[in-house]
Amino acid sequence: MNSYTSSRLLRKGFGTIRPLSGSARAFTARTYQQQQQQSEPNTTHFGYKTVPEEMKEALVRNVFSSVASNYDVMNDAMSMGIHRIWKDHFIRKMAPTPGAKLLDVAGGTGDIAQRFLEYQDNINGDSSSTVHMVDINPDMLREGERRFVGSEWQQHNRIGFTVGNAEKLDFVEDNSFDVYTIAFGIRNCTHPEKVVQEAFRVLKPGGRFMCLEFSRVDNPMLAAIYDLHSFYVIPKLGELIANDRESYEYLVESIRKFPPQDKFAQIIRDAGFTTIGKGYENMTFGTVAIHSGYKF
Ligand SMILES: C[S@@+](CC[C@H](N)C(=O)[O-])C[C@H]1O[C@@H](n2cnc3c(N)ncnc32)[C@H](O)[C@@H]1O
Repeated sequence: MNSYTSSRLLRKGFGTIRPLSGSARAFTARTYQQQQQQSEPNTTHFGYKTVPEEMKEALVRNVFSSVASNYDVMNDAMSMGIHRIWKDHFIRKMAPTPGAKLLDVAGGTGDIAQRFLEYQDNINGDSSSTVHMVDINPDMLREGERRFVGSEWQQHNRIGFTVGNAEKLDFVEDNSFDVYTIAFGIRNCTHPEKVVQEAFRVLKPGGRFMCLEFSRVDNPMLAAIYDLHSFYVIPKLGELIANDRESYEYLVESIRKFPPQDKFAQIIRDAGFTTIGKGYENMTFGTVAIHSGYKF
């Protein structure tokens, strides 16, 4: 694989993406209207809105540029800290072997990468495993990079960063990683099935795909409570803590648009992965699920 180190790639022409200004927003809206009048573009969902497929990536980038600086604080506030338990369990379930090479896609501010390295150091006594984080958003990745500055992991080249799209990891060689993770990222991608196909390509034979994502709560009473929390509490917290209600409305809506557990497990099998049993484990009544598949 190419040696791609963080700062070099981040400096290499991937400009920082800032939230759209008022005039840019008006321009985007006009362009969108014109596009709709001229032709019937392929559409997709952006939360509960229907947008042309080619617009979704920029809209998602905008959301994460807007939330990047408050992302970690908001995660704790929205989940009452429970996201830490989900992520800890995700890494324990992975149970990586010493020397494992992890590709953490949609890695954001680095929660999964850090937990992986801590597990390898503390549980396996291993100082040779590495993690490479990929994220489409330079602002999110910069927050992740900041977390590792000056760490032993950075000094020993055990952590790297690349700005890139999960749907097209053309800077990653075939069959090159032992584990691929994507946590709370895939529902933001325009074509989740392409993401899973790319994961299959870059994993070594025997490698493992693992996804942590919000999912469906089956119990109707719990689902009603969860909906109240999602549609009233979370946007309010976004408004109070991050002064950004809209981004958090999108995040909640995007969860409802992502396929339910069994359907996503089938997408994983369709990409070529072998799943064990039904292919996923629910946590907190299905609020989130860990999907997993092997490249055999
Ligand atoms: C909710 S955050 C999750 C961050 C981190 N994995 C975590 O668990 O805290 C979602 C991340 O997905 C990234 N993302 C969205 N679409 C992406 C894409 N097509 N390719 C790569 N990353 C993407 C966003 O920029 C954002 O950093």
